[in-house]
Amino acid sequence: MRVLGIESSCDETGVAIYDSEHGLLADALFSQVEMHAKYGGVVPELASRDHVRKLLPLVREVLEKAGLAPSDLDGVAYTSGPGLIGALLVGASTARAMAMAWDVPAVGVHHMEGHLLAPMLEENPPEFPFLALLVSGGHTQLVRVDGIGKYRLMGESMDDAAGEAFDKTAKMLGLGYPGGPRLAALAEKGVPGRFTFPRPMTTKPGLDFSFSGLKTAVLNAVTECQQKGDLDEQTQADICHAFQEAVVDTLVIKCKRALKEARLSRLVIAGGVSANKHLRARLETELKSLKASVFYARPQFCTDNGAMIAYAGCQRLVAGEHQDLEVVVRPRWPLSELSAPGQ
Ligand code: KG4
Ligand code: ZN
Repeated sequence: MRVLGIESSCDETGVAIYDSEHGLLADALFSQVEMHAKYGGVVPELASRDHVRKLLPLVREVLEKAGLAPSDLDGVAYTSGPGLIGALLVGASTARAMAMAWDVPAVGVHHMEGHLLAPMLEENPPEFPFLALLVSGGHTQLVRVDGIGKYRLMGESMDDAAGEAFDKTAKMLGLGYPGGPRLAALAEKGVPGRFTFPRPMTTKPGLDFSFSGLKTAVLNAVTECQQKGDLDEQTQADICHAFQEAVVDTLVIKCKRALKEARLSRLVIAGGVSANKHLRARLETELKSLKASVFYARPQFCTDNGAMIAYAGCQRLVAGEHQDLEVVVRPRWPLSELSAPGQ
């Protein structure tokens, strides 16, 4: 079965074609970051309008890359939530209309299910069951995954998501938008040990996270340096290094704790922050002592993309799942409400 996947939940328009027998055939992405950068964050109305402009050209592009015509497609999958309502509606209504015109089924996909299944697009995919650490701009969750659609939430952030903490800290340091990758790049030049920030909620038992206190600790350090007239590039790099250490340490501690608790030996990391090199490297090393392994997607499939939606949608369409003609989007949608494909 060949499925066209469409992602439009936030500021990236992603389109891809996944074939249940031959794997990923083509993918294309347009990122709106430049457009939103001057506002310091995503402007929802601008995001929706840009999805309208980019979606159909990207659909043509992937069809051309794959050497296919619309009549070669067997289904359309689109992100139906969670995300920005206007942005979701553009993807959902376009996908629904194309599916109707081409007389194929359409299925709505949960954005975070897309993320957590993205490592399945790689050469050595994880087997079920596994633990998933979902770390994106809007979510920080630990989920037990017993199969597609079989998700049990084990822990989550009480306040900011990990990606949000990266972005807000970067903004505090004047690194611009989107801050996460820029902060991570600058952290590589930082001197270890000059600053130390807390590892929130790690000393008490439990699998929940909190990143807002860490953000305040960084703000205090930044203000102190500014007052001393000592916020040069090296100091900024040192703060970035210490912040990244604190977030990564916190995530590693909770992942190890959850793996032990759930008696699992496979960990999947997914979502934008799973592209972080330091997080990947630390987990590779730390999990060895637990005889556990870590799985992740290539960097461009960690952040928002169409391939993960085409893959997840294909699994559901193959099982006979599809939506009626109405266009339904869910800006808020807990992952635990999903069920196995076709059920
Ligand atoms: O999954 P994603 O593309 O969008 C959401 O679903 O939210 O994640 C975006 C988030 C942003 O907060 C971004 O700063 C963060 O992922 N991010 C990173 C890195 N690359 C992206 N954070 C830390 N290190 C990175 N290399
Ligand atoms: Zn995402």
